[in-house]
Parts: sequence; structure tokens; C-alpha cells
Amino acid sequence: MTSNRKSLRRILLLAVLALSLVAVILIAPATPPAAASTSVWGSGTLTDAELSNLISQMTLAEKSSMIRGASDTTCVTANISPSVQGCQGQAGTVPGVARLGIPPLRLTDGPAGIRLSGNYNTALPAPVGLAASFSRENAYNFGAVMGQEGRATNQDVLLAPMINQVSIPTAGRNFETLGEDPYVLAEMVVPQIYGMQDNGLIATVKHFTMNDFENARTSASVDVDEQTLYEGEMQAFEAGIKAGAGAIMCSYNRINDVYGCSNDIMQNQILRDEWGFTGFNMSDWGATHRTSDLIYGLDLAMPSGSTGNGWADALLQGAATSGTAAVALTNDFPAVPAYTAAEWLTAIDQAIFRILKQMNNAGLLEGTTFGTHYTDGTPYIPARPDKAALMDETFAVALEVAEDSATLLKNVNHGLPIRNQEMVGRSAKGGVVVMGPTAVTPYIGGGGSANVTPYDNVISPYAALVAGAKANAKISYVPGYDLDGTVMPATAVVAPAPFAGQNGWLRTQIDTVVPASGAAPAACTANCAADQLDATVNYVSAPLPAGTAWRWQATFTAPTAGSYQLKIFVKDQQSAQLFVDGLATNPNRRVNMSAYAVGGSGFGYAALSSWDKMLQTGKSHDPNGPKFQQGSWTVTFAAGETHTLDLRTYAQSAKPLLVQFRWITPEWQQAKIDEAVAAAKGASKVIFFAYDEGTEGSDRGGNSIANGLVLPGYQDAVIAAVAAANPNTVVVLNTGDPVLMPWVNSVKAILEMWYPGQMGGVATANILLGTANPGGKLPVTFPASATAFPQYDPNCNPSIITTNPPVDGNCPLYPGVYTLGFLGVANHSYRTVDFTANGIFVGYRWYDKYDVKPLFAFGHGLSYTTFNYSKKLVVTPTADGGYDVKVSLRNMGPMDGDEVVQVYLGAGKVPAGVQMAEKALVGFERVSLKKGETKVITIHIAPRQLSYWSVDAHEWTVATGQRALLVGSGSDDIRAKSSILVTN
Ligand code: BGC
Repeated sequence: MTSNRKSLRRILLLAVLALSLVAVILIAPATPPAAASTSVWGSGTLTDAELSNLISQMTLAEKSSMIRGASDTTCVTANISPSVQGCQGQAGTVPGVARLGIPPLRLTDGPAGIRLSGNYNTALPAPVGLAASFSRENAYNFGAVMGQEGRATNQDVLLAPMINQVSIPTAGRNFETLGEDPYVLAEMVVPQIYGMQDNGLIATVKHFTMNDFENARTSASVDVDEQTLYEGEMQAFEAGIKAGAGAIMCSYNRINDVYGCSNDIMQNQILRDEWGFTGFNMSDWGATHRTSDLIYGLDLAMPSGSTGNGWADALLQGAATSGTAAVALTNDFPAVPAYTAAEWLTAIDQAIFRILKQMNNAGLLEGTTFGTHYTDGTPYIPARPDKAALMDETFAVALEVAEDSATLLKNVNHGLPIRNQEMVGRSAKGGVVVMGPTAVTPYIGGGGSANVTPYDNVISPYAALVAGAKANAKISYVPGYDLDGTVMPATAVVAPAPFAGQNGWLRTQIDTVVPASGAAPAACTANCAADQLDATVNYVSAPLPAGTAWRWQATFTAPTAGSYQLKIFVKDQQSAQLFVDGLATNPNRRVNMSAYAVGGSGFGYAALSSWDKMLQTGKSHDPNGPKFQQGSWTVTFAAGETHTLDLRTYAQSAKPLLVQFRWITPEWQQAKIDEAVAAAKGASKVIFFAYDEGTEGSDRGGNSIANGLVLPGYQDAVIAAVAAANPNTVVVLNTGDPVLMPWVNSVKAILEMWYPGQMGGVATANILLGTANPGGKLPVTFPASATAFPQYDPNCNPSIITTNPPVDGNCPLYPGVYTLGFLGVANHSYRTVDFTANGIFVGYRWYDKYDVKPLFAFGHGLSYTTFNYSKKLVVTPTADGGYDVKVSLRNMGPMDGDEVVQVYLGAGKVPAGVQMAEKALVGFERVSLKKGETKVITIHIAPRQLSYWSVDAHEWTVATGQRALLVGSGSDDIRAKSSILVTN
């Protein structure tokens, strides 16, 4: 660990914040392979023959239940952590066979901490932040936190790490993965897996493969050529498998027209035959499509096996008893030949063996007849750590990684750290003014299955800043950017008959049954209130009764031109829907919110009591107000434009319903901007917190990458106005991936803190105050404009391609096109996203190839100190066929700091037909240097890094010739050069 870098000052800050942190991290050191630790992993004593024997004792019904998820019926297990009782609300469970001493297997999400709907856990920084730290040691500790907490909460399998490559800059799950570079993905995933499995939790690398975007993720196909496939994220999957990951998760999407979980090439030929994977392969949740997925390499259908996905009990047992007939080719699905009962049984036994093998590795089979704790066949679970005792360690890791992830993108003229004279005394004028919602509502993590419910003592960046600064420091907060708006006044709406012409809404009580999509609601039949005119929709002080349903109708007129948000705010609803200009079948239907209660598991919503600690625009942000869920329609209106609004809400059966209809008008936005500008004018410095919202299930900007790259709402406008009012403005970003920064030249400093987890507030304050020094580097390229990034083809005409038969002009690369189906007469029903067009040129490789200058390059990141690199590199060949590169580095600046030394390799001679990057990262090391210290760093270039995937030989092949060797502080900041003559 790098905890010795923590200064006393920072520890004091933590004490102020009443967190009982210790300075020394107790988690095992980084890098040793699993076998070298005192871990649970590998502690199982059953031989392969004994595993097979157990399988032979299973009935066919038991066998069928071992390869399908089911609900957790027992919840509490033996040897549980003293501080954890009852059901934990994990993502999935495999029931086990109690009769044979085989316990249930519980599977929980990562990858940013343990996600359970029934338990708080340490919310770690989003993995993109871990990648930005470029520290393998951090990666180990990150994995170890999840390993320990997962085990402590009665879990056995972690559904992480996620290692899909960032290929599309706005993909919803970019925050969950480790960036755009396959080498970084591979290097950072391996220590994470050790960290997880050393602590006994089975790691799952996901999603195999090419699940690089969310739009249409369950149907789309990724068209990918062989070289691109092998040289992209597959390198990380291979590294993860070779590091011993016990499980893999096949993806929702199709790869070259065949679903991930049905894909014989990916699952049998590559994963098993080429890489020798011996663990088990589970489906993503609902990604199983056919019984034959089992034959094609799937071992476990999650979260359940059903008739719909071909893994129903009867189907599996039927196949193993009577065999199956051939299935003909269809336009979207390949043919499947007939299989005999014996073939099915072999496949079932093999799948169970693979699962049992990993359960044995985790020590979970010792209660079976062959185990060391066999008694009467009761399953035996190895001791689990006490959850309560872990917090000091896990919080310390969360803080360390968040600080190490801090990536300083720009810093001129004393932008950062904040200087004392800006906070204290007459020079401080109005002091430091902090703005933006994520300053006070900490941005902990992205949405979806990676969203962790944090322990409750989460400190906002603003609170941490105030606590960390001197007692007499002038620091204040002004929102600047408002997410919640205000109740829409009666003047904006006119009711229909019988109140026609009057301002307000017609309120009608309706039937409590939510109608099918497209249908009008049925009339209320019993105890119905009379229709009435409501000036506003505002039922907070007098909520609507439980078990009732209501409809409000009005015609809305936009009073002025500009950008609006119309918002439903609801609490304790069964359902809430806003229809614009008609019923549900109308394409203008905009907002439809189903029942997310606090404690619910919906994407992007907080569970338990941590509601106020997480920023999501899908909720309200007033910490003292009701915990509303909100749904917004963001739209630009012309002045006088009218629309009919039809709002329906259905209360839950046992809880009264709170509902408001709100809006944010252009004038409201301007008023917030004016308020911010006035505060900025008197301030010594402005620190503006801006955010984006990455979530599973959708890509930012929908199908439009250009829209998705823009900061949500009117944040850009506020930042520009504030920076114009006060040139001493600093922007702190909480984004999960790249955003555009139209204000880049008018601010002094830009600090990317990613989604920094539950210790992110403290980490951010430490960086802003200069008690910690930023050392993170970008694991993703930030584009300079909305037209220049890898998934863009200026010559594309999508309308040509959607015709039948299709003409594939290699565009548009995303969101894809409809291509000719298997039957050759009509298109597939799904889109194909063409990854062959850019090929291996993802991320910085694309910018280099097309000579496009990004806003901030891959590997870029500044420090409060400066590092001097020796011009001379010492390069020596090594016995493994690689090279060692030695470079000397000196900290020349005013404080201790970390530098990530990066080694890039040039292309050399490029054989015909081979794709090769102008330069590729082949080595890196994060180094801590005291003020004035010099270190000589040795970075190893492994033979794989000298190679390309040959589609002729179907293997890694060394790219020979004279190749440039570039060592630097970023991909665009090369400090020393050499070259090597690579031979075979
Ligand atoms: C996600 C997986 C996740 C699973 C279980 C799926 O929707 O794609 O990453 O592990 O749900 O929550």
C-alpha cells in the first residue's frame, strides 16, 4: 500500500470527520498470486474424482437445479458473520443439493463494491477511477475489499470485474470498466482477481464479450473481425482466465450474429480449447436463449431457467432423457443439429463439474461426504469474516483509491490547490464559493447493477472541505445548477371540460388497476371522489389515500421559448405515467415510471436509508424534503407551443401517495445562473462540481454520441457564465467517461474525480486543499468535439443501409444498421454495430491514426509537483523474449507525489493486411517520489506486447523490425525516446 504517503494533516482531517480510520492498511499486499497467500482460495480438499462421484449421486432433477438460478429460500447459512443476519438480497442464487452437503451458491454484484439490497457495504470508487490510478496495488486492494465484504455478507460469487473495453465514449457502463486500452484492462484485472479470490470470493469476468454499449444490448450484434476481436478486450478476458478467475459471464449481445451465451466459437473454441478455462460460464441475467446454449458452452442460466430461455427443468430433463430434434435455421438464429440424450447428460454433468470445482476452490464442499467437515451431510461453510470489523480497512482503501484516481486535467496560474489567502483574511474577499449538486449530494457511483448502497457516514466534498480547512476559512455553497425545479403554477395550464378555460388541471379518480400500455384508464367504480379543478398538482401536506389512483389532464402552453423540464415527483407510487399529446401508443409518450420505492432495486435508485447521499436526477435532492422519485421530460419549446398533458398516478395498497408536477423553465434556469454569477463575482475562487450520469441500461445521449458527450442539463451554461464572472474558477468533474468542455479555456483548473465512491468527498477535499497530490491519468481519451471520435463516419448515409437488401458502407458504426438475415431474403430483426470499420483503432489508437487532436489525451494527468525524466533509456532484452526499459525519474517540485511512467511501442514494419497502431501502451508503473527524490524505474515489456494477432496463423506473432520506444507522462507527453530492433 501507499499509505505511508498519507500525511498527518490528512489523518487529522479524517479524525475531524469522525471516521475511525487507521493509517495502516491491513489488507494483504499486492501482486502475490492466490496460492502464496493465507487465503481460503484453493483450500478445498476434494479431488476431481470425488467431485464426479458427487455428481453421480445426484438425481436428474437435482442436476437440473444445479445449473439454473433460483430464489434464495434459506438465506441464513452456517458460520455467518456475527454482524450479518438474514437475507441479503443478492443478485442470484444456485440452490445446491443439501442432501449431499452441497450448500447454496450466492452471487452478488460488483464491480464497485458489494451490491446487496439488504445490506450496506463499502461503496468503492467506480472502476474507471481505479483504472485512472494505474496502480496494480490499488487493484489488488480493491478486489480484496470486495472479497472480504462479499464473504462477510454470506456471498460466494462476485459478479465482477467488468472488463468490456470503452469503445463508444458515451456507453452507459463505461464507468464500470477499466478504460479503452486492452493492456491496461488486462494489467488491472489480474490483481483484482487475486484480491477477490485470495479472500475466498469467486471472481466473474464479464461480459463475454463485446458488450461495449447498452442501447439494444439484448438484441444487437457486434460485427468484429478476428484481429480486432483478439487484440481488444479479449486480452483482458484471457488474462483474467489465466489468473484463475473461477467464473465468466457471457454477454447479452450477439457476436457476429450469434448470441454471446449461444456462441460455440467464443465459449467452446476460444474460452475452453484455446485458453483452457476450467471455471464455469454463467449467463448474464436473462441472456440464455436456447437449451442448446448448454452444448455451446454455457454452464449456468441466471437468474433462473425458464421455458422462455430453454432452460426450464422439464426441457433439460427431457433433453437428458430423450434427446432433442434438430432446430432449423431462422432469419435471426442459426440451426442446431439433433443431440442424443447421452450428449445432453454429458453436457449437464460437465457444467455441474465446472461449478463444483470452483465451489471446492472456495472451500464450500467440505460438508460433503468427501470433505474434512463431513458430519451428517449438513453443508459446511468456512468461517466468514466479521463485517463490522472490516470497515477501517475497507474505508481506507476506498479513500486511497479515490485519491489516487484524481486526474488533474488542467492547472494554470494557481488554479489548484486552493491557497490559504483565498480562504482566510482580507485577501479572501468573499472566500471560496462552491457550486454544483455533487458538491453537497456526493456522487458515489453510477447506476444499475454496479450501484452499491453505501454505509451511511458519507461525507460530501463540501462538508469535507469545510472540515479540512482552517476554522476561520471563508467557504460557502451556492447551488448554481438546480435539478428539482418548482411546482408548475396554474398559469401554465388550462383544464378541459367541465372546467374548460380555467387555469389548472382536471382531477379524476380512476380505477386502481394500471391499464396495459396504450389503453385508457378505467373509471373509478367505488367510493369515487367527484371530479375537481386542481390549480396545481401538489399533494404533499395532504397525500392521496393508499389504494387509490388519480388522473390529471390539462393543456400546457409554454410561456416563453427555450429549454424546459417537466417533472413528475412521486413517493410511494405503484406507478406514475405522463402522456404527452395522447395515449401510450402515441410516440410522444415521454415519461413512464414504475414502482421504485426506497429500498427497491431499480436501476439508479438508492436503497435503504442512503437516499440523500447519492446524486441521481431520478430522485429529489432536498435532504430535508420527502424522498421523491422523479421522472423528467426535457424539451425545447417555442413560445406559445401547446401540448396536452395527461398524468396518472397509482398509489400503493398500503401507503398514501405523494405527488407533485414540477417544471424548470428557462427563466428559472437563468435565475439560478444569475444567483451563481453574483456569488462568483465576490468570490476569491469558485469551485464548480459538474457531473454526468452513467448507468446500465442506456447510453448517454441515447443513440446520439454527440448529445451524450454534453454535460446534462444547462451545466455548461452555468460554468461558462460563472467563469466569465470570475476567472479564478476551477471545475471538479464527477463523470464516468469523457464529456465535452466548451468552457475549457476560461477556467484555471479541471480536476476529474470520476464517481469516487463513499470516501470520494474526503478524497476530493484532500486534493483541493493540497493535502493529497493528484497522480491519476486518463484511461480514456476525451474528444475535443462532438464530431471527432472513433465511432464517427462523416460519409455515412444511414438511410441507404436500412434498405433491403442492405448496403454496408461501414457506417454508421453506432447505433448500427439492419443487415441481411440468415435466410437471405429479409433483414435481421436486430441491429448490427460494425466494429470492423475502426478495427483495432479504438481510443488513442484511432486519434493517432487519423491525426485527430483530442481535448485530453489518453494517459494525460498533471500533478502539483513536476517530474524530470532522464533523456537516456537503458533497454535490455530479457530471457522471456521481451525487454526491460530503465528510466530515471526525479521529483523536481515542491511536494511529494506520484507519477505514472508510461512506455509506448511504435509500429515498425507492418505486414500486409495487418492492423497496427502507430503506438501502443506496453508498460506502466505508478511511482511515489518524495520531494527531491530520484528513482530508477524498470518497466518490463512482455513478448505479447511485441505481437499482433495474425489471422493467417491464428496466433500471436511478433511484429519485427525497428520499433520506436517512447517513455512519457502521457500518450501526448513523451519525455524520452529510443528504439529497438525486434527480431523473431
Ligand atoms: C448485468 C450484469 C449483472 C446482472 C445481475 C445484468 O443486468 O448486465 O452485469 O451482474 O444483471 O445483477
